[in-house]
Amino acid sequence: MTLRGQDLLSLQEMSTADMETVLSTARSLKEILSRPIKKVPTLRGKVVCTLFYEPSTRTRTSFELAAKYMSADTVSIAASTSAAQKGETLSDTARNLEVMGVDVAIMRHSVSGSCHFLARVLDIPVINAGDGMHEHPTQGLLDIFTILEHKPRIRGLKVAILGDILHSRVARSLIFGLTKMGAEVTVAGPGTLLPPYIEDLGVKVFRRVEEAIEGADVVYALRIQLERQNKGLFPSKREYRDFYGLNRRRLSLAQEDAIIMHPGPMNRGVEITTDLADSPRSIILDQVTSGVAIRMAVLYLILGGRE
Ligand code: CP
Repeated sequence: MTLRGQDLLSLQEMSTADMETVLSTARSLKEILSRPIKKVPTLRGKVVCTLFYEPSTRTRTSFELAAKYMSADTVSIAASTSAAQKGETLSDTARNLEVMGVDVAIMRHSVSGSCHFLARVLDIPVINAGDGMHEHPTQGLLDIFTILEHKPRIRGLKVAILGDILHSRVARSLIFGLTKMGAEVTVAGPGTLLPPYIEDLGVKVFRRVEEAIEGADVVYALRIQLERQNKGLFPSKREYRDFYGLNRRRLSLAQEDAIIMHPGPMNRGVEITTDLADSPRSIILDQVTSGVAIRMAVLYLILGGRE
């Protein structure tokens, strides 16, 4: 199926073939990032709108840079400075942007399902840049893209995802993407931060992170999402670090060539130690670079590029 004119709302709904198309397109487009002049005319005349109801550094900036590198015009709406502060509804805001000539809307929102809602309201394509505790599909794609820059294939790879699975849209998108592509995914974290249905997604669940990390090729530490949880889901950040944080001792249980990942922003010294985050085995900054390439590919394919 072509991605042209389509929404990108979740990796649960995306076919493996479409994921492969995005990954291979990103592989071609990434070369542009190393040019002295990072500009191609591919999306000249297109207007890309980011609509962020939650904070972001990586996702919003990389979508905007991806659009600019391909010569699209960008407009960026932050809920904190928009008419949302005067009580305007999401659908009214979005419809107003659409009639001003926007070609694609990229939204982040705290409510799970809000991007599906927006996709029903608008005629233009909608890209989910993170909806509540649901999904963050372009993060899942950029994570898989980054793994493939360091490992030959996804099929058969053992990936351990650690920490706050319950609140993590990153974890959900990554699990959908990795399992569709044949990886063996293990998850571990405090019982209060493991959703009850998680086994149904095709992952092995452990309470001790050591068991999940054993023999892993990729170790993925998640951010504790303090903004999405009530107090009392774990005793303290210190206990979380002691029982669930990624450190050298725990990493030694993984494969010798295991790589370390984190979606950012990091709580250094809580879910991951600083020495590991900055170690040669960390590919955390590679993930950020991949984010630009993946978002270039997504915009290119959705706004009419050939596959
Ligand atoms: N990984 C990620 O979504 O980062 P931002 O919140 O900075 O966009």
